[in-house]
Amino acid sequence: MKEVIGIIGAGTMGAGIAQVAAQAGHQVILVDQNQAQLDLAKANLEIILNKLLSKEKITSDQKSSISSAIQYEINNTSLASCSLVIEAIVENLTIKHSVFSALQEIVSDTCILATNTSSLSIASIGSVLKNPSRIIGIHFFNPAPLMPLVEIIPAVQTSQKVIDNVMTLIGAWGKTAVLCKDTPGFIVNRVARPFYGEALRIFEEGIADFATIDWAMTTLGGFKMGPFTLMDYIGNDINYTVTESVFEAFYYDPRFKPSLTQMRYKEAGYLGRKSGKGFYDYSENAAPTKAKEDIDLGQEILDRILALLINEAVDAVFMQVSSVEGVDLAMTKGVNYPKGLLKWADEIGLNEILLRLEDLQLTYGEDRYRPNPLLRKMVKENLNFYPK
Ligand code: NAI
Repeated sequence: MKEVIGIIGAGTMGAGIAQVAAQAGHQVILVDQNQAQLDLAKANLEIILNKLLSKEKITSDQKSSISSAIQYEINNTSLASCSLVIEAIVENLTIKHSVFSALQEIVSDTCILATNTSSLSIASIGSVLKNPSRIIGIHFFNPAPLMPLVEIIPAVQTSQKVIDNVMTLIGAWGKTAVLCKDTPGFIVNRVARPFYGEALRIFEEGIADFATIDWAMTTLGGFKMGPFTLMDYIGNDINYTVTESVFEAFYYDPRFKPSLTQMRYKEAGYLGRKSGKGFYDYSENAAPTKAKEDIDLGQEILDRILALLINEAVDAVFMQVSSVEGVDLAMTKGVNYPKGLLKWADEIGLNEILLRLEDLQLTYGEDRYRPNPLLRKMVKENLNFYPK
């Protein structure tokens, strides 16, 4: 029989992770302190499973076994039989500490304790445990049942056995598990920052408007959504906060500096789709915004944003946040980039990327554009990230 999996927090992420574990054949105990949230999670799962059934993605037997595999509980004491508990509650260190402190007394000594945090360090969360070698980050993406990537983040305290068990388990759930160092933003939320930040900067300088930048990144770059459409989709409040937290966590490295423009949009309540207006107007009678489809301008925009994204991907390898394959998998499976950034860098030519960055650094005199030392070294030695 498969292990029992516990999940604390039945919100957006917890409910999705519960579905993933149940679909993988586990018995799942989903806990939330709020009964209404548990009821909502149960009702939502029923809707999702009915959709999957009508699309013939699952059989009615599978539907009933998934539904009956999840037990909804209000109290953490029901988690005693679990071999893994994934916490997906509010993003607050003090509250997470109190949950983990109490949880370690409920579960067995061998139970793995995981957190789905996006922005807190795994080391800090694990510090309250008597045995911190069992803490690990298991970072799913939203929506968890659909997004293939899961970042696996051992803390400095985590044992190798816990890492191996979790990598195997998440792989068995049909997910792409990528190992990642316990650093701000992990892989995706770190490497993706210039997609938003540099697009905002290009707009602020008056080089192009939102629609033109989005057009360049989608039509010429092959990205599924342009940066401004995506920021509106994520929400300017959420996207700004992630940038700000990565910027602060990196001791104010200018590469991650948040944008005043986005701050003003957030302050104005122009949050994006959810507020009816963001960078674009989502009201019914809004006039469609037209891009200036100038190929030279579009290529300049794409080249600039891509050079910064690649520089960030190289930095993640240089600082051993993850492997070359890990970084490329993370960006293609976690945020649907059309190509791995390091593979893309090889195709464009590392020398060309270095030249673009040096040109930007010379033009602006800002540290934001400094080329990564690994990129310089690889150009000097005529190396590629993948075999030529
Ligand atoms: P949410 O606000 O949708 O759900 C949180 C749930 O936790 C709520 O139902 C709340 O009642 C419950 N809760 C709060 N304190 C609790 C406690 N002490 N005991 C039991 N239940 C408690 O939050 P969401 O978006 O699901 O995020 C959860 C975690 O996942 C956060 O750490 C977040 O940073 C992370 N995350 C969120 C992503 C997203 O796109 N929303 C993506 C990846 C990670």
